[in-house]
Amino acid sequence: MLDKTKRGWWKSAVFYQIYPKSFQDTDGDGIGDIPGIISRLDYLEKLGIDGIWLSPVYDSPQADNGYDISDYEAIWPPFGSMADMERLIAEAKKRGISIIMDLVLNHSSDEHLWFKQALRGRNAPCHDYYIWRDGGPDTPPNDLRATFGGPAWEYVPALGQWYFHQFAVKQPDLNWANPELRRALYHMIRFWVDKGVEGFRLDVIDNIGKEPDNRITARGPKLHEYIRELSREAFREEGLVTVGEAWSADVEEAGSYSDPDGRELSMVFQFEHNFVDCAPGGDKWDLAPLDLPKLKRCVERWQKGLYGRGWNSLFWDNHDLPRIVSRWGDDSRYRVESAKMLAAALHGLQGTPYIYQGEEIGMTNIRLPIGEYEDIETRNLYRERMAQGRAEADVMASIYARSRDNARTPMQWDGGPNAGFTAGTPWFAVNPNYTDINAEAALDDPESIFYFYQRLIALRKTHPVFRDGDFTLLDPENEQVFAYTRETGDERLLVVCNFTGETVSWRIPPDFEGGQPLIANYPAQAKGTLRPYECFMLRRGGRR
Ligand code: GLC
Repeated sequence: MLDKTKRGWWKSAVFYQIYPKSFQDTDGDGIGDIPGIISRLDYLEKLGIDGIWLSPVYDSPQADNGYDISDYEAIWPPFGSMADMERLIAEAKKRGISIIMDLVLNHSSDEHLWFKQALRGRNAPCHDYYIWRDGGPDTPPNDLRATFGGPAWEYVPALGQWYFHQFAVKQPDLNWANPELRRALYHMIRFWVDKGVEGFRLDVIDNIGKEPDNRITARGPKLHEYIRELSREAFREEGLVTVGEAWSADVEEAGSYSDPDGRELSMVFQFEHNFVDCAPGGDKWDLAPLDLPKLKRCVERWQKGLYGRGWNSLFWDNHDLPRIVSRWGDDSRYRVESAKMLAAALHGLQGTPYIYQGEEIGMTNIRLPIGEYEDIETRNLYRERMAQGRAEADVMASIYARSRDNARTPMQWDGGPNAGFTAGTPWFAVNPNYTDINAEAALDDPESIFYFYQRLIALRKTHPVFRDGDFTLLDPENEQVFAYTRETGDERLLVVCNFTGETVSWRIPPDFEGGQPLIANYPAQAKGTLRPYECFMLRRGGRR
């Protein structure tokens, strides 16, 4: 077990993200709940993870599945009670698992008491907790667009004012320029630290310094000042881990966030690699095949750029992204091989890995009729693109490939009704492939993806090169193979991954011939070739 009072313990840790709505239901209402998470802690302990990033469980009208919070100090009743939450924190801790809460500090729900008070008048308490601009009903303050579609301003006739919302209309942005608002947020965070929470994931944290009048949403001029204050006031304990979601971060910026001397955050989630399969000039919905050399150069830039300075977080999947095995692997014929290969490619890197629920059993994307999608972003995208006259088949192809709902289908526990997720009617479609792909089957099969992840997690704990080694990319232009080395003074690691469903030729560098095999997804290495989606790791030197 890691000593979590130590500064930087999270550099040796692996985290697991839970999207509570889709994890495990216990009371038959079709919605996952906190007792359900508690009932699966033994499974997570077996996997070997050190912490859970819990997507929001706060009270919420669920316009954006809990990322619209109406009370930061209460639990949404279908998820359970505060007593359940306390029990989860305690039960997880017993198993060496920390709870990392998701903090949405950029916006609240329009049903939060603050916003309700703000609506009472221009001089009402909390009015200035939000961002208001005067103006007539037909002329929004400017043409800024919301991330989930439509204008980023909403008119309130009774006040003769517009409020700013970067996301949904029901997610009004908080005004970080107001010191009283900032204090209220810090106070709320301390409430959770006092309950035993050991870290936080900070939702769209790069947006808090926004200046909508200047058309600045992410990376506003005061962003880092605000984060330093937040960290000083709310994250006082050395052991707390903090990870900021920062879509706008480049390597330089991520260095500022995560440089220990800067006293900001432990690390950030950055998304540069998430665009290597998007058409140039398009957004995430504009599909292009994976450009492996581009991905490799991107990984190299981040690995080298933060080495000895800041810290990377490593992830392929989360609740906003499609399933990696469907995206860059092969979710039919080579599902198991490719899921393992993608895991190895990521877990060999320097940084803190995050596994998203179901990734460890190779869960896949889903295809649904448009009426069955739940996600607000997906629904709005469909409406907008159809209104623009795009071909429905193209719009649906984008949704199948990139909808956030791909990640939100219920966790597949076993081959029984509703995949063992609920005894009731699930709130969202269960992927019909659950009869083959489920946790019970994975636990019964020593060659499963689950045990591959378990081994990767154990390797990270055993060999310091995983945490400390520097990174060298091999064969950068190779379009099929991603291979790299990691190196400390006395230990070297080679990671080799075939990203294709074909047999390709590839020679082990001479200095790794005869190296110690750490993990592989095929029984024995073939000389001079890699089989479809083959991966392996070899090690040289070291004290063991
Ligand atoms: C983040 C969350 C996403 C949410 C958005 C608005 O990107 O990960 O799920 O919709 O912020 O809160």
